[in-house]
Amino acid sequence: MQDKTHLVDDVTGHRRMRRNRKADWTRRLVQENRLTVDDLIWPVFVVPGTNVVEPIAAMPGVNRMSVDKLVEAAKEAADLGIPAIATFPNIAMDLRDETGSHSLSANNLINEASRALKKHVGNIGVITDVALDPFTSHGHDGILRDGEIINDETVDQIARAAVVQADAGADIIAPSDMMDGRIGAIRRALDSAGHQNVGVMSYATKFASAFYGPYREAISTGGLLKGDKKSYYIDPANSMEAVREAALDVEEGADMMIVKPGLPYLDICWRLKEAFGLPIFAYQVSGEYTQIKAAGMQGWIDEERAMLETLLAFKRAGCDGIMTYFAVEVARILSRR
Ligand code: PBG
Repeated sequence: MQDKTHLVDDVTGHRRMRRNRKADWTRRLVQENRLTVDDLIWPVFVVPGTNVVEPIAAMPGVNRMSVDKLVEAAKEAADLGIPAIATFPNIAMDLRDETGSHSLSANNLINEASRALKKHVGNIGVITDVALDPFTSHGHDGILRDGEIINDETVDQIARAAVVQADAGADIIAPSDMMDGRIGAIRRALDSAGHQNVGVMSYATKFASAFYGPYREAISTGGLLKGDKKSYYIDPANSMEAVREAALDVEEGADMMIVKPGLPYLDICWRLKEAFGLPIFAYQVSGEYTQIKAAGMQGWIDEERAMLETLLAFKRAGCDGIMTYFAVEVARILSRR
């Protein structure tokens, strides 16, 4: 009796999930989601000067690059098939002030980078952020007065900065500041400046997260930041609020949306995709990168497999693509397959 049933009863015994998993060929045949190079956006850090490639201690394997070096790196990324690059500037300290006024300069580092990328690198999209944090002396994303981030003045300024960035060649403006009403304001400003074809990729749901730490080292805002960003980023506890926030951005004219950070917020990726259907990107942020990198360097985790697994998870959660510091590494791996 015992050996006939083997504890697996006849009914469930007919339904064996493992049949489809039994060999590599069948696993490939039934695979539902795939990561390709077309899914990748590469975030990069830009510094002043020439011939500068500067490691970032908290992000092993990631460098700050001067514009000339960035152009070389972007050519390689384009050759690998990476569709887009997202630039983040490390602005000289003496150019930072209370209001982030240097964000409006046509010749600031981010605009200089866009012009060089558009001139020298074919076939790669340039995505720029208009948040003020790289430009402010206090590291906040907006204008700070009496301890408060002033919403509407900040929106006016970033809408103007968006036009300057579009003038410099940015293909997509991606505001990561979380001020209310910024998507509509940026859209209107771009349109009235004749930039109808410049897209807006909203950081629709950006959470007040601990995972941004290494990024703040990369652009040197960490030491400057007083207080936190909880009065403008979303509380990590809230998902209904995130959906409402995203709904406003869709209404205001966002072409695509970003969920940030990525892996701890896969539920948000899924909900936004289901609710709105427009292209959704996860930003696998600096702290997520560093976790995998650090454990890999210690030999505590298989870095390559962990990296690929997290990126595939974003696809499974409904994302159209991923902003990731692993982009070039992944593109190389995928090109060998
Ligand atoms: C701020 C901004 C942040 C990141 C990019 N732009 C967050 C912050 O400093 O508060 C984080 C990106 C990352 O961690 O990789 N506008």
